[in-house]
Amino acid sequence: MLRFLRSAMTSLTTPPRVPIPANGVDYRGKVVLAPMVRSGELPSRLTALKYGADLVWGPETIDRAIAGAARRVNPRNGCIEYTRLPSNGGRTDAALQASVIYRLDPVREKGKLIFQIGTASPELAVQAAKVVAGDVAGIDVNSGCPKPFSTSGGMGAALLRTPDKLVSILEALVNEVGNPYQIGISVKIRILEKPELTEALVSRLVKTGITGLTVHCRTTPMRPRERAIRDQLRMVRSICHDAGVACLMNGDVTSRDQALALMEEFGVDGAMIATSAETNPSCFQSKADGGLLPFRDVVHAYLKLCIESENRFGNTKYLLNMMIPGKNKEFRDAKSSKNYADFCHILRFDDLMPAALQLDEILNLSGKSAYYEDIRNKAVQHAIEHNETARAAGGASRPKSMSPTTSGVGPIRTSSIPAPSKSKLEEKEANLDITETASQSSQKQEVAA
Ligand SMILES: Cc1cc2nc3c(=O)[nH]c(=O)nc-3n(C[C@H](O)[C@H](O)[C@H](O)COP(=O)(O)O)c2cc1C
Repeated sequence: MLRFLRSAMTSLTTPPRVPIPANGVDYRGKVVLAPMVRSGELPSRLTALKYGADLVWGPETIDRAIAGAARRVNPRNGCIEYTRLPSNGGRTDAALQASVIYRLDPVREKGKLIFQIGTASPELAVQAAKVVAGDVAGIDVNSGCPKPFSTSGGMGAALLRTPDKLVSILEALVNEVGNPYQIGISVKIRILEKPELTEALVSRLVKTGITGLTVHCRTTPMRPRERAIRDQLRMVRSICHDAGVACLMNGDVTSRDQALALMEEFGVDGAMIATSAETNPSCFQSKADGGLLPFRDVVHAYLKLCIESENRFGNTKYLLNMMIPGKNKEFRDAKSSKNYADFCHILRFDDLMPAALQLDEILNLSGKSAYYEDIRNKAVQHAIEHNETARAAGGASRPKSMSPTTSGVGPIRTSSIPAPSKSKLEEKEANLDITETASQSSQKQEVAA
C-alpha cells in the first residue's frame, strides 16, 4: 500500500518521459550541431564532435535521393557511403559512376548521428529512413526549410501548414522505423506567427511517439539574419515536457557556454547551433576547455578530417572559405587552390601534405594544382635538406619505401613527403576500385537538398 502511494506520488511529481529506444539517444542535456545542407557533411560533423558537440545532425537528405541507394564501406577509411547511379535513360554505360548521396563514420559518429530527412510522404519517408536506420541514432524530419525547392514539394516549412500530413509522417516513422530499429524519431520545426498556432501544432506533434522536438525560433518568412524570437519557447517547452518529449532550442545560439545559459533560462533540454558552428566549430568548446580557437587551428583540424574522410573537394573549399576570415591574405590565396595539396601549401600545413597528395591522386585532382612548381620545389628542397642532415648525422640514405619510384602513385612524391610503407601502399592500391572509387564518385556528389 505504502509502495503504491509512493509510486503514485512520484508519478504526480516526476514529469513523464518518452522512453529512449535501445539504439537511440536522449537529446536531453545536449549541445548539438544543426542540420546544414552543404555545411553539415561528414568532416564538418567530425570537426564539431572533436570540439565537443554532443550530437550532430546530418544535412537534410530528400527521401527520394536516399531511398534505393546502395550501401558500401569505403575500404580506405571505413566510412559508410550511400551511393546511387545517376539516371542514364536505360544505358549501361561502364563509365557511369555512382554518386555518394551520404557519408558517415560508423566509429566516430556512433550513437551521435541524427539523419535528417526531407519528405512530404509517409511511405517515402519510411522507405528512405529504412536505408540508413541501422547506421544512425535517430531520424529527424525537416519541417522548417523555407526554400521553394522544399516547400513547393510540400516538404520543409510547408509541413507546418499541413499538420495532418506531418503527423502521419511522424507516426509512420515511429511505427515502421523507430520501433523495429530501436532508434528515436524527432522533428525540427519553426515557430508560427501566432503562439496559438504553434501551440496547436506542437500539441499534436508530441503525441506521435517522437522522442525529441527542435524549435527554430524564427517564423518561416524570417531571414537568417533577423534575430531569433524566444517569446514562444517556454510554451513549446512546456507542451514537450508534459508529453515527455525532449525540447531543443535553435536560433542565434553561438557557443556551448551561451547554450547552457539559455537552456537554464528557458528550461529547455538542449540547444542546437548552426551558423556559428559553420564559421568556427570550436564554438562547441567551453571557455573552461579553451573556448573559441584561432581560425588556423580549426582549419587545420577540419582539413585533416576532410582528407581522412575523402570529402568532395568543392565542398571542402566552400567550407574553408567560410572559416578563413575575409581580410586574411590566406583567404585570397586559398580561393585559387585547385586541390588539397594547394590548400596545404597555401596554409603551410606541411604535416598534411603527404595525405593531401595521395587524396588528390585518388580524386584525380593532382594535375590541377595552381602551385605545382612551388609544391614540387619545396618538396625537392626538403628532400635535399633531409639527406644532408642525414648524411651529416651519419644516417642512412632515403629508405626504399619512400622512393618516388617505388611509391609510383604521384608525380611529385619525394622523401620529404613520406609515402606509406610499401606493404601499406600495395594494400591501399589493391583496395582501390579505379572505375568507381568513393572519392571519384564523391566529386559528382550533388547537394541533396
Ligand atoms: C548553410 C545552411 C544550411 C542549412 N540546412 C538545413 C537543413 O538541411 N535542415 C534544416 O532543418 N535546417 C537547415 N538550416 C537551418 C539551420 O539548421 C538552423 O535552423 C538555422 O540556421 C538557425 O540556427 P542559427 O541561428 O544557429 O544559424 C541550414 C542553415 C544554414 C546556414
